[in-house]
Amino acid sequence: MAQVIDGKKLAKEIQESVTKEVSELVKKGKQPGLAVVLVGDNQASRTYVRNKQKRTEEAGMKSVLIELPEEVSEAELLQQVEDLNQDDSIHGILVQLPLPKHISEDKVIDAISQEKDVDGFHPLNVGNLFIGKETLVPCTPAGIIELIKSTGESIEGKRAVVIGRSNIVGKPVAQLLLQENATVTIAHSRTKDLPAVASEADILVVATGRAKFVKKNFVKPGAIVIDVGMDRDENNKLCGDVDYEDVFEQAGFITPVPGGVGPMTITMLLKNTLTAAKKIICQTRLDGSDDFARKVLNS
Ligand code: GUN
Repeated sequence: MAQVIDGKKLAKEIQESVTKEVSELVKKGKQPGLAVVLVGDNQASRTYVRNKQKRTEEAGMKSVLIELPEEVSEAELLQQVEDLNQDDSIHGILVQLPLPKHISEDKVIDAISQEKDVDGFHPLNVGNLFIGKETLVPCTPAGIIELIKSTGESIEGKRAVVIGRSNIVGKPVAQLLLQENATVTIAHSRTKDLPAVASEADILVVATGRAKFVKKNFVKPGAIVIDVGMDRDENNKLCGDVDYEDVFEQAGFITPVPGGVGPMTITMLLKNTLTAAKKIICQTRLDGSDDFARKVLNS
């Protein structure tokens, strides 16, 4: 029978440590700031953004929401991103995706300053992740690694299978698992005999976007199963990409939906914003004889 990995509890613990560090910075007159840009009227995006804002404020950070109409031009949005790049009170910039069709998401992501890219989507940050350099890492994959580590099981030497190859979850989480010295397979919709591949995994990360896709025959007895899905079942009830009831007896550890990966994503966004703020503050103040910058660097 699986042990349930409590994402809500872990997210709360990490948020508490972020909040503590933020309050130290605020005492020194340096409040970290996150700007979220929301284009158009997508209701799901609006809900995500509202949650991000609430949690940012709870952590003691400055929170700025920039709302732009659906018809905003690409040039106007790029100018808005550039203004935020230049704004010293902002250390993290997140442009909520998806964007309207007339705007190139690639161009907008490229325009975000690499050091303020708290989503970890900028090609330079993606490249740094790939070559194992310290960088801003996408939030959901970073949260998944924390969830796996919270089991107390080591990742090193284990067989990890990631089902899904998106740029936001599948590819970056595979890179992070590789950095932790797992032996990593990325499986996807064209993989032959997926249950056989998946059931070799000591660590199985599922990001298919298909409700209850992973059944018991995909899971090695005792495996750690991480469910990234947020789907609706035939009764319109929230569920994951893993058939939780079917897999529960087989797995060693499992994340529930809701209450697993989901709560970790915003927490890692706050952690990234804090990391970005500490870096930016040090760089901008190290040119003078500045005690504060030294203290931050040494902390
Ligand atoms: N839309 C859905 N998830 C995300 C995310 O993690 N970051 C951004 N920028 N947009 C999203």
